[in-house]
Amino acid sequence: MTDKLETMRRTHNCCELTADDVGKEVILMGWVQRRRDHGGVIFVDLRDREGITQVVFNPTVDEAMHQKAHDIRGEYVLGVRGRVDPRPEGMTNPNLKTGAIEVMVSELKILNAAETPPFLIEDRVDVSEAIRLQHRHLDLRRPQMQKSLVMRHRAVAAIRNFMNDNGFLDIETPFLTRSTPEGARDYLVPSRVNPGQFYALPQSPQIFKQLLMIAGFDRYYQIVRCFRDEDLRADRQPEFTQIDIEMSFVGEEDVMGIAEGMIQALFKTVIDHQVSLPFARLSYDEAVDRFGLDKPDTRFGLELKEISDIVKDTGFKVFASVVKKGGMVKALNAKGCSDMSRKDIDDLTAFVAVYRAKGLAWIKVHEDKWQSPIAKFFSDEEKAAMTKRLDMQPGDLVFFVADSPKVTNEALGHLRNHLGRKLGLIDDSTYNFLWVTEFPMMEYDETEKRFQALHHPFTAPLETDYDLLEQDPPAAKSRAYDLVLNGNEIGGGSIRIHQIELQQKVFAALGMTEETYREKFGFLLDALQSGAPPHGGIAFGLDRLVMLLAEQSSIRDVIAFPKTQKAACLLTNAPSDAAKTQLDELSLRQKK
Ligand code: AMO
Ligand code: AMP
Repeated sequence: MTDKLETMRRTHNCCELTADDVGKEVILMGWVQRRRDHGGVIFVDLRDREGITQVVFNPTVDEAMHQKAHDIRGEYVLGVRGRVDPRPEGMTNPNLKTGAIEVMVSELKILNAAETPPFLIEDRVDVSEAIRLQHRHLDLRRPQMQKSLVMRHRAVAAIRNFMNDNGFLDIETPFLTRSTPEGARDYLVPSRVNPGQFYALPQSPQIFKQLLMIAGFDRYYQIVRCFRDEDLRADRQPEFTQIDIEMSFVGEEDVMGIAEGMIQALFKTVIDHQVSLPFARLSYDEAVDRFGLDKPDTRFGLELKEISDIVKDTGFKVFASVVKKGGMVKALNAKGCSDMSRKDIDDLTAFVAVYRAKGLAWIKVHEDKWQSPIAKFFSDEEKAAMTKRLDMQPGDLVFFVADSPKVTNEALGHLRNHLGRKLGLIDDSTYNFLWVTEFPMMEYDETEKRFQALHHPFTAPLETDYDLLEQDPPAAKSRAYDLVLNGNEIGGGSIRIHQIELQQKVFAALGMTEETYREKFGFLLDALQSGAPPHGGIAFGLDRLVMLLAEQSSIRDVIAFPKTQKAACLLTNAPSDAAKTQLDELSLRQKK
């Protein structure tokens, strides 16, 4: 049997009572973290959103109530009235904010019973993520989850304050819309009233925010859900939240300036960290050349060096033939790692294979010789040139990948991050922000056999590169910029195309016929002809930002109800079958 709340009104949270409150009568409400029966006196740690207070049931205060306290179990919901007492000598708990006091209970209401939870409600919980997600309402009671979601709330509030103070208007855009080209698959929603037709959920509000600029709303922002049907990872969810921003009459510097100001305000408000401005910048080409990736973690060195020119005619045929075919050979010097075991090297070879590298050649540099399966193939000149370029010194271990530029850079770029962590080269207390600029406009998609926009097709090319769009499309660089934090892409944007001629030229360079782009984006082309101002913007991944602020390793840990790698919600069991009648209404038939 449980009690009614009736006359009880909560007076305090479970975190706020201190020695100053001794003698007061208080009413607390919360969940039972732990119950301890000390033969006679029963202690309960009562928990709410804010913290924990120890409450005490003593038979000398009220025998019936003490008897009732025997029924209490973990996660029961209680209301207690009592007096704040100082804890006896030697019983204070300096680790607890309320550790100097306890509440001697005079009235107990059991507001609800609870079944034994499938895991303990505490931070170091030894249970699979699947179980946590299945019982997310319990998982969310854990202090770390509460802390992360409170932090997320504070982050959103800080961002809104900054944007509002800087004259940005928060305007909503539709969820039931047409396909938006951000490069992932769309989630489709069938239309009942238009049989056989579908809405697409927006991958981002990209086109709408451009239309808002054309409509004259100068400075727009929105903290908005986006939907992308893509392969999920620790930093990707099928629905995620963007801080979406667009501005008129601006160039790169203006957008980057607002973005930097917002990040600075965010870090100051939420974690009291002073970010220094402006952020460092690297061109895409330089980032890929030095770090292999377009989102480099610049908290440590281990930079990559190309040696294609040195080994183009070498006796090691793998290297020579890759260079002849237009590929590249790059190396990474793991300083002082020459004592790495064969097994560790084999593990690293398996690691780069995931990125399609066909092998991982290596050289251990000793005082008197190179220890390596491939050393015998190199001439003295080649050895001397490699020693100089790669700064090879006794004790070093150098890794090599030879492949297409894409595979070589990705494999070694990820290997670099992996080694950075494994070798303890990363200072986890630093925040390294980096702008990566001048991305290529497009890249060739081998599976689709056509060019794809690297950012999206509304991104403006560099003014100097207009001609390249026709002559050498993959060489054309764009006015796009990404913001990278410790190797995570936290935001991306660009200056947009605001003139129809250029937009048509870019669609054509992407292999679209006039018929196709008219059909898909006719409304945007019309709008561009109605007086479109120069404009540009950016979008940040809120989930990723909060993940980094809260020092979590997955965005699932900063989203109240996230989905699994298979895009499922284990709590509600979505997605699920639809009833035949529903399918009929939507004019859909299930494939047998
Ligand atoms: P973009 O596609 O780069 O740009 O997305 C912007 C930022 O959103 C975050 N992000 C994600 N976060 C979690 N899960 C995902 N599946 C996911 N996908 C992207 C990243 C990324 O940097 N309309 C453009 C922006 C613009 O041009 O203004 C856009 O959406 O942190
Ligand atoms: P093999 O001649 O195939 O026995 O290879 C000799 C060494 O070169 C091994 O350590 C392989 O891992 C490495 N290797 C093979 N192909 C490549 C490649 N494309 N890039 C880098 N190393 C390679």
